[in-house]
Amino acid sequence: MATGASGTLCAHRAQTGTAIRPSPSSGSTAIVVVSLVSTSGGCGRSTLVAGLADALHRRGRPVLAVDFDPANLLAQQLGAETQPAHGIATTDDWTRTALANSEGVRVVPFGILDPSALLHFEQQLVTHANWLRSRLDEAALADDTVVLVDTPRLPSPLAWHAAATADHVLTVLVAEPVAYAALDRLPTPGAARAHYVVNAFEPQRTVQQDVLLLLRERLGVGLVRSVVHRDAAVAEALARNRALLDDAPYSQAAEDLQYLCSWLLRTIDEAHP
Ligand SMILES: Nc1ncnc2c1ncn2[C@@H]1O[C@H](COP(=O)(O)OP(=O)(O)O)[C@@H](O)[C@H]1O
Ligand SMILES: [Mg+2]
Repeated sequence: MATGASGTLCAHRAQTGTAIRPSPSSGSTAIVVVSLVSTSGGCGRSTLVAGLADALHRRGRPVLAVDFDPANLLAQQLGAETQPAHGIATTDDWTRTALANSEGVRVVPFGILDPSALLHFEQQLVTHANWLRSRLDEAALADDTVVLVDTPRLPSPLAWHAAATADHVLTVLVAEPVAYAALDRLPTPGAARAHYVVNAFEPQRTVQQDVLLLLRERLGVGLVRSVVHRDAAVAEALARNRALLDDAPYSQAAEDLQYLCSWLLRTIDEAHP
């Protein structure tokens, strides 16, 4: 465990104020936007956004993680010590709010909004269906950048907006009866391709095995073939403020994350050759 000599948790992965540099050959059509959504809280959206951003970055793919959740916790999943005050929801100059951690993984925070400002922001999204996509286009990101968007739980207007604006929607599910029942409430992703992944799977629990079978039957090839298992290594890496792939590279969850990363790369490269 990467605790300091004093026993306090190390938290040095984030560096502030790293603006995203425009790429000279950038074309907004070349980015691929992948929004992660779910109907339940705590099922692993932020964990998977942060883990996939890190895994994609390690494979040399340009990646930007965008926090579109007012909880504003994604930067901390990637190493920030405190909640950033500013981000995509709080300033027009949002590209300057992007942070890069010590490995170079870039994240745009949501920022901190008071309740009335948040309401105003959500209303703006309802009237401007292209709001997020336009912001990402303005950023002139490098070709092939994968933009991973973290969202609050559905039916938040922010999550609907992020799903509607995406090229791919990856719904994170837990293999519990309640998640199966909520499938009907998921957004029809419009032009986006719909995919599903089971996170925090516990193979020793019969009910989870049964629900997984039902999900496979119902979702077919839309369901990522391999699950991400529940693994204590995930929370431990977060507590140590280390990337899972560094902290526990041979853990079950790290293996699952690498599989999910390969699946994502294959899926987006097939869809956007
Ligand atoms: N595969 C997993 N195994 C073990 N713990 C997990 C796993 N995925 C997520 N968690 C833990 O579950 C909690 C909620 O995850 P989080 O990503 O914040 O959920 P969400 O963003 O969907 O609300 C966190 O403490 C996280 O460390
Ligand atoms: Mg979250």
